[in-house]
Amino acid sequence: MTNPQRKPYIAANWKMNLDRTRVLDLVKILKARLGDGEDREVAVFPPALFLADVAAVSQGSPIGLGAQNMHWEEEGAYTGEISAPMLRGIGVERVLIGHSERRHLFFEKDEWMGRKLRAALSHSILPILCVGETLEERKSGQMEAVLTRQLSTGLEWTKAEELSRVTVAYEPVWAIGTGEVATPEQAGEAHAMIRAWLRGQFGEVPAENCRILYGGSVKPSNVASLMSVPQVDGVLVGGASLKAETFLPIVEFDG
Ligand code: 13P
Repeated sequence: MTNPQRKPYIAANWKMNLDRTRVLDLVKILKARLGDGEDREVAVFPPALFLADVAAVSQGSPIGLGAQNMHWEEEGAYTGEISAPMLRGIGVERVLIGHSERRHLFFEKDEWMGRKLRAALSHSILPILCVGETLEERKSGQMEAVLTRQLSTGLEWTKAEELSRVTVAYEPVWAIGTGEVATPEQAGEAHAMIRAWLRGQFGEVPAENCRILYGGSVKPSNVASLMSVPQVDGVLVGGASLKAETFLPIVEFDG
């Protein structure tokens, strides 16, 4: 972290894990342990089915609540999808967009992300745009090209003055769920690249206001070193966020 204006952001992506009871138990534990949310921002992204319950249980706490995906249209014949107004209607105020599992397992297209981001911002939902290269792309020297493509399509319809409401998550695909974490140098290089691209596209001040998270095998043992990297403004945690014993030490990292 280098910019004190950017509050550290710890986000838990629970993916298609946990059942209703375990989700609510985890939220209750977090609620009891979190302070006033003054010095760090914590948000959970449970399976969509449990969002309304989590909204009720987390009420009165600073825990942020987000969906793992959404459609860009407000309504229509899109079987299986959920829209921004539906999310807002039950108290959801954040969303993940373009997670690598959506891109690679469900073949979501780059250009959809720009529309989703636009829809989120238009409905006062705070988006986290996920970007990241595969191992093959990294090895063949395409990392910058991939990140640039994902950023430019994802932020195609976003205005400079909206960038403070946008978070970017750098999640190298090779580090997700593999136990292999990017070194602080690798994370630093990618984050600096992303910040430079934002600066070139939107200008110095908007780029400084945008938080960039690291995601991929974040654990209690590596969170502090990742958070000490300049330009790393927070973490997006998968596996280690599923249990209080591993997620609380991440939330409470010494920084
Ligand atoms: P892991 O922390 O399990 O590697 O998952 C990272 C991730 O995909 C968060 O969105």
